[in-house]
Amino acid sequence: MKFFIDTASIEEIKEIDSWGILSGVTTNPSLIAKEGRVFEDVVKEISEIVDGPISAEVTASECDEIVKQARLLAKISDNIVVKIPITIEGLKAIKILSKENIKVNATLIFSVNQAILAARAGAKYVSPFIGRLDDIGYDGMILIQELSSVFKNYNIDTEIIAASIRNTEHIHKCLLTGADIATIPYKVFVQMIKHPLTDSGIERFLSDFKDVKSKGGF
Ligand code: G3P
Repeated sequence: MKFFIDTASIEEIKEIDSWGILSGVTTNPSLIAKEGRVFEDVVKEISEIVDGPISAEVTASECDEIVKQARLLAKISDNIVVKIPITIEGLKAIKILSKENIKVNATLIFSVNQAILAARAGAKYVSPFIGRLDDIGYDGMILIQELSSVFKNYNIDTEIIAASIRNTEHIHKCLLTGADIATIPYKVFVQMIKHPLTDSGIERFLSDFKDVKSKGGF
């Protein structure tokens, strides 16, 4: 499973990129709005930092407008993936754009049916939202499990980006169920590395080593 970061913050992207584990970035209109900058400028800057796929979302709802926005976004850099919400107009746009080799990430996926339609229309990625399903009393992980087996059964090469990840348990389960990618918020990346036994272990090693240090050396 590859790791993407779900953010539009340049600072967060640079920090996680420095860990050597980052394969791509996903943004959405809410994340872009938080940065208070021009949309295209943010996307361009991100695409210059990370080599992998950078998802930038369209805000139009009619097919023609979606296609127009998508073409402009795709021109920003070779690694831009256009994120399109899964609607009928969105599907029509995915069909047109995939024929032009513009990569699409179909977003706001909440069911296997939505995902299979996006994949058949030509989407390179689908983004099922785990956390938002959990929020309304469903188990978002079941969608990831079902999607993984459906895509495997029918040899569909559209990649599954587990999105709307809220905690480390989501990631642990995504690894076990076979999501291709998890797009993770910065604070969850930080939680992934933490373990209280690592902290107390470091503390004990340093305290035991104090006497050795007092004898000299580097
Ligand atoms: O970028 C899409 C998705 O990850 C949003 O997550 O936490 O707003 O449900 P969230």
